[in-house]
Amino acid sequence: MKKTVADSGKLTVIQHPVVARDLTILRNKETDTAHFRMAMGRIATILAYTALKDLPLRQVQITTPVTETTGFEIDTEIIIVPILRAGLSLVNALLDFIPDASVGHLGMYRDETTHEPVEYYSNLPQNMEDAIVLLVDPMLATGGSAEDAIRILKQKGALTIRFISLICAPEGVNHIMKNNPDVSIITASLDEKLNEDAYIVPGLGDAGDRYFGTL
Ligand code: PRP
Ligand code: URA
Repeated sequence: MKKTVADSGKLTVIQHPVVARDLTILRNKETDTAHFRMAMGRIATILAYTALKDLPLRQVQITTPVTETTGFEIDTEIIIVPILRAGLSLVNALLDFIPDASVGHLGMYRDETTHEPVEYYSNLPQNMEDAIVLLVDPMLATGGSAEDAIRILKQKGALTIRFISLICAPEGVNHIMKNNPDVSIITASLDEKLNEDAYIVPGLGDAGDRYFGTL
């Protein structure tokens, strides 16, 4: 059964002073790996909070040390799917909120010349139909990687997909909204544009290299 998709096709750009401060740390080319990871972790928590805020609930009866009362459990399966490598930077914040979520993995890199995504790994859980699938990647540039990932998830049966991204280019957002209008996007920033190398401007450079210290 398809769960709530009240925000289907919506773009949510988070406005928050901590996000504005931490985006500045991430964008600054002088920021070292440790401070980059810490800033990414803090924003990932706010992205996760935002992406999860309308999860369906079911009522449960519990007994406190004092009395019986009504409580709540989350009424959907959650599957987190990072696009390797950089998507791994957003996974732990989601698992902090939903520790029993399944985690699938999609390995993709952009060809440096064509900027087209190249898929090199896929390991996804079964039974995606009933779950809310959180596809995570900090950078939405041309949208090619996200579009391929969404196609793979839909082929595996996913019906409800949310794309969680740190920074989006307008080109990538338009690409996803045109071809997958059912997918909602949650991001910390909608940047200006892509440059001639299909890097996001102002962006933060190569997210994977900066997060994993492989510059
Ligand atoms: C980056 C990023 C996205 C992709 C976005 O991955 O993490 O997956 O580029 O670009 P697109 O929207 O134009 O497809 P990258 O190829 O740098 O691989 P990495 O995560 O392994 O560093
Ligand atoms: N991938 C990145 O890591 N950064 C960009 O600006 C574009 C794609």
